[in-house]
Amino acid sequence: MLYYLIAALLVMLVLWQAYVRLALSLAKHGSLSGHARLARFIARLIPYYEYDERRYFSADDAPAEVAARRQAAFMQLAALYAQRYPKGAAATREVEDALSDLQFTARYRVPFQFGAQVRRHLRAGAFLVSSAGTTVTDLDGNSFYDLSGSYGVNLFGYDFYKECIDEGSRLVQELGPVLGAYHPVIAYNVRRLREISGLEEVSLHMSGTEAVMQAVRLARYHTGRRYLVRFCGAYHGWWGDVQPGVGNPVSAEGTYTLKDMDAAALRVLRMRRDIACVLVNPVQAMHPNASAPADSGLLDSRHAARFDRAAYAAWLAELRRVCSARNIVLIFDEVFVGFRLAPGGAQEYFGVRADLVTYGKTLGGGLPIGVVCGRRELMKRYRERWPADVCLARGTFNSHPYVMGAMHAFLRRLESEPVRALYRDLDGLWEQRARQLNERLRSEQLPLEIVHLSSIWTVNYLQPSRYNWMFQYYLRAEGLALSWVGTARLIFSLNYSDADFAAVAERLLAAARAMRRDGWWWGGAALTDQAIRRRLLRELLQAWWATSSIGSRSSPRSRYSGARQ
Ligand SMILES: Cc1ncc(COP(=O)(O)O)c(C=O)c1O
Repeated sequence: MLYYLIAALLVMLVLWQAYVRLALSLAKHGSLSGHARLARFIARLIPYYEYDERRYFSADDAPAEVAARRQAAFMQLAALYAQRYPKGAAATREVEDALSDLQFTARYRVPFQFGAQVRRHLRAGAFLVSSAGTTVTDLDGNSFYDLSGSYGVNLFGYDFYKECIDEGSRLVQELGPVLGAYHPVIAYNVRRLREISGLEEVSLHMSGTEAVMQAVRLARYHTGRRYLVRFCGAYHGWWGDVQPGVGNPVSAEGTYTLKDMDAAALRVLRMRRDIACVLVNPVQAMHPNASAPADSGLLDSRHAARFDRAAYAAWLAELRRVCSARNIVLIFDEVFVGFRLAPGGAQEYFGVRADLVTYGKTLGGGLPIGVVCGRRELMKRYRERWPADVCLARGTFNSHPYVMGAMHAFLRRLESEPVRALYRDLDGLWEQRARQLNERLRSEQLPLEIVHLSSIWTVNYLQPSRYNWMFQYYLRAEGLALSWVGTARLIFSLNYSDADFAAVAERLLAAARAMRRDGWWWGGAALTDQAIRRRLLRELLQAWWATSSIGSRSSPRSRYSGARQ
């Protein structure tokens, strides 16, 4: 009898575990970003190939007349770039061989099949020499409206940050770069961060990536559980555990990547006992389950961002409920959106409180920063009763006096009337600007649409096309500066006046008209996104076959043979 009972219990246990495992599988997003191992495996199989000149202009099988129009326009653009950006291009050429970061960003601006031609002909240079108001100026003296937003750091305009750095430096200059002890300005910083986050304790780091690392480490330490949950497509810095797919050469063993805004993910959180924390990057509200659609990934026009504030707020509220019920630490990663959506960040904007919140970027007043704010019991790095059981986090440059000084100036300015005024009807303002621009795009039947989360904008492409990524080069020609991810992220600073914005809108429209005139958005009846994908798959298979059948194929890793002996 006892044997039967034990056997029955064992069977039930096995069945339960199978069910839990099945629920985890069902909570993974169907795309490759939801399946990290598979994505990495497939990424290693994709061979390099590039289009020759003929194919470059007719990758979509456009008629010869359209291809010729594109080619003429491309060469005209190349001539314009050569004439406008000679010094920038030369200076870039001088450093790029030795600057790996630059090589990487230069390579991942457009789909790789087109890359070689673009790098040869559309050289604009990577150098800027000054900034003022909403503009930046390059080495050749060209001025651009800045839509790069310095990766989100630039919330109030570059002059604002220059002032923060100047004022902050003055505040701390007598102490200078002494590390280990604190400059007294820190007391105000900590007080304000507690008020802003609504949380009890603060820890200081040097980048957003580090802040996220520390938040996750604390969650693991206090819960005694191993796994962090992140949502498909979300960026949380370049630390391995939050980047389990392509880009990270090793597996992230302690990470579950689940479907965003999906009940299946909540089911996993309710069932499992090994989850320490859930990481949320609120910018994903614009494109849940997908990465920011960087221009290098604009293979077709399938990606479509949308933003529904109420739906995302309801999702966060549900997450909050489940995390509370299961003692899972809810972490808002506000490194990007913090201070941008509201003075109290995404917590205020979506009306949901987190247990830990990470901040970074703009908070440093123009200098590098990462911050974790959290509930007292989660922030402790030691246990009163077990003195050897600690959770270590330091960092040579944490709370650097100059960073603390600039942060101090930033936080003080946040309380000033002119800055408070910027937040009044902030969403209404950007909503109205986006709506007006979208109306003009529609009325001119230009195949673009703006989707936005307040001042963070992205472009949806409405016409199936292989050439949407070319738009970034037309925007630059019109004097708009983008970051290397291109039209996926147009980041406005809040000092954009109506006149500045009107100028940007005119330029964007002019660039779109030129794109259409030059034939990049030609669309034959057979040119659907599905047809584009099929064609790409065929090309990839052919390239793969060609590489493997001539015997030169080897795994990318085994090609490396330059290790020092
Ligand atoms: C949401 C989020 N978390 C973390 C990071 C990483 O911050 P950092 O680049 O300062 O390491 C970023 C950077 O873009 C981010 O957007």
